[in-house]
Amino acid sequence: MVVCGGSVAGVLFGPELLARLNTNDVEAELVSGFDQLSGFDQRPALDGRLLGHFPYDEVMDSRLIVVEPGIELHEDAANAFDAMRQAAAADGLDLRLLSGYRSHDLQESIFFDVASERNQTAEERAMVSAPPGYSEHSTGYALDIGDGEAPETHLSPDFEQTPAFRWLQDHAARYHFILSFPEGNPQGVSYEPWHWRYEGSASALRLFEPARRLVQRRP
Ligand code: DAL
Ligand code: ZN
Repeated sequence: MVVCGGSVAGVLFGPELLARLNTNDVEAELVSGFDQLSGFDQRPALDGRLLGHFPYDEVMDSRLIVVEPGIELHEDAANAFDAMRQAAAADGLDLRLLSGYRSHDLQESIFFDVASERNQTAEERAMVSAPPGYSEHSTGYALDIGDGEAPETHLSPDFEQTPAFRWLQDHAARYHFILSFPEGNPQGVSYEPWHWRYEGSASALRLFEPARRLVQRRP
């Protein structure tokens, strides 16, 4: 059935919301009916994003493997990272895995506890950290990478000055990793040269399709 014309939509959404749906900044609009995160006074946008971040379920435990003490990744991302790290090592570089899978509970304390410690609003915090339920790290496909020769640049924008970052720019795509938050990314997240996500399987591609589409929609 083809539903056309503003009248049907007008009945469904009401004239006020319909007028706002017709604006260009529809991504930023809020809709009612979504569950709110406990203790968090924000609701997702129409495309599901919260404070710029897309929602992500936790990966099943059975797909996680330990890559470093205390750091787990989805097995597909782990295998790809292992191959990438070996290739980098052959070129004389020391790629360090700094962070991988994070449960929603861990993301919750990273988001709320650190925001509180730093006296940050949710909006300020969301520029550097995703709210619980909205981090790529929950999927097991996202990882933070550092240069073992330059630990002072770990999790810093200065990482982009390192040989490891330049190597990643030239080679990461071969291993199906892409930079999630480049400078000026449309999600409004601060530039994170250290944060890469794996897109080397249909499952991973499906998960990150909304984020990809947002980038492609840019003029
Ligand atoms: N630092 C990224 C945005 C995260 O928390 O998932
Ligand atoms: Zn990260």
